Amino acid sequence: MINTSIQENEAVLQQILSSCEASRLLETKQFMQHGDTNVYEHCIAVARVSCLLADKMGLSVDRGSLIRGALLHDYFFYDWHVPDPGHRLHGFTHPKRALQNAMDDFALTTVEQNMILRHMFPLTPIPPRCLEGWVLCVADKVCSTLETGRFTQNTFARCFYAGLGERG
Ligand SMILES: [Fe+2]
Ligand SMILES: [Fe+2]
Repeated sequence: MINTSIQENEAVLQQILSSCEASRLLETKQFMQHGDTNVYEHCIAVARVSCLLADKMGLSVDRGSLIRGALLHDYFFYDWHVPDPGHRLHGFTHPKRALQNAMDDFALTTVEQNMILRHMFPLTPIPPRCLEGWVLCVADKVCSTLETGRFTQNTFARCFYAGLGERG
């Protein structure tokens, strides 16, 4: 049952990724996020973990919005490890920048906009207004911890980082 939903989630994820091919999403591969994981890989893993959490907890979420918001939550185009006045206080400022960039490239629902803008809660003090945003907050922290600790190759994490087809 859970495997079926993982496959369904993956199908929706791949469909949304295909629809993003003309956007700047692929550019995020150039920028490291945590450890040896780039921003693109991070966002895909966050989308997968978000779906898994929603399924495991039996949450009634908009699957498309959950995946789109997760894919775009870190839609910025710089290496935040490199000191630059243009992205000072990255942890606090990047949600707003990601949202602006995402709105330049996509027509987002209010749920997707809120997910992106509030995903750094509680570092940024205003919480999400939607269930999808809360799921994203948790999934982002799970993935950030795995990446920072370089646990992305362990058995648990591999399906989120390598994708279903590459699990072994
Ligand atoms: Fe972020
Ligand atoms: Fe993130």
